[in-house]
Amino acid sequence: MSFAKVIAVTAAAFLVQGAALTALYVQWGRAGMAEDRRSGREYPLPRSGLAQRGARLYRELGCYACHTRQTLALKDGPDLVRGWGRRRSVARDYLRDRPLLVGDLRIGPDLANVGLRQTNRTAFLLRLWRPGRGKSPMPAFRSLFATRLLRQGSPVSAWALPLHEDAARGLEVLPKREAEALAAYLLEQRADAELPETPGPGTPERESRLSEP
Ligand code: HEC
Repeated sequence: MSFAKVIAVTAAAFLVQGAALTALYVQWGRAGMAEDRRSGREYPLPRSGLAQRGARLYRELGCYACHTRQTLALKDGPDLVRGWGRRRSVARDYLRDRPLLVGDLRIGPDLANVGLRQTNRTAFLLRLWRPGRGKSPMPAFRSLFATRLLRQGSPVSAWALPLHEDAARGLEVLPKREAEALAAYLLEQRADAELPETPGPGTPERESRLSEP
């Protein structure tokens, strides 16, 4: 083979390889909102302003370093059996996520549907103040709260955390706006819409221990 031919064949091989690699990254169309078969509402709806701020804090405080937000339905994956969701997560669940905060380490439980398991705002606030009553590997996020000394005889503020031991010591713990924002974000963690691409009723992937609300 002449030198020119070798060059031509090599160049052609590079071109074909380049085209094949590019094709792997090309995307046609993009997912948009869809109708939730159960509620008839559009999905995913925009987050509330407070929850958007919570999403930023979730990233800034590094929650994603220990928590994922993705219900997996691998063949032997126990996510649904653990009650971490009613169905597996799909791409559309993340349409409102900028940046995408899926996470890849599970030191703590998956949070994709934590708002279905826990619907009490105060429970989320308490967890941020003292996770697992001091026995959890999760750090306490005390900078999200203000501690105030109670003047003798003055009542505890209505929005203070219900911490009776602290109140007895004359202290009250008040969630800052940041704590409220994180709690709002956690309460909105519910990826349970029934979409064209999610498994329908009766399929094994729908088996889950989550009770109906
Ligand atoms: C060092 C790892 C670590 C970090 C960082 C961390 N967590 Fe956790 N988290 C855990 C572990 C472990 C648990 C489970 C044990 C427990 O219940 O305390 C948990 C439990 C939770 C739960 C309860 C989940 C359920 O299924 O009820 C919530 C909610 C939560 N974390 C939110 C957060 C938020 C929000 C942040 C960031 C502000 C955060 N975590 C940061 C480790 C972590």
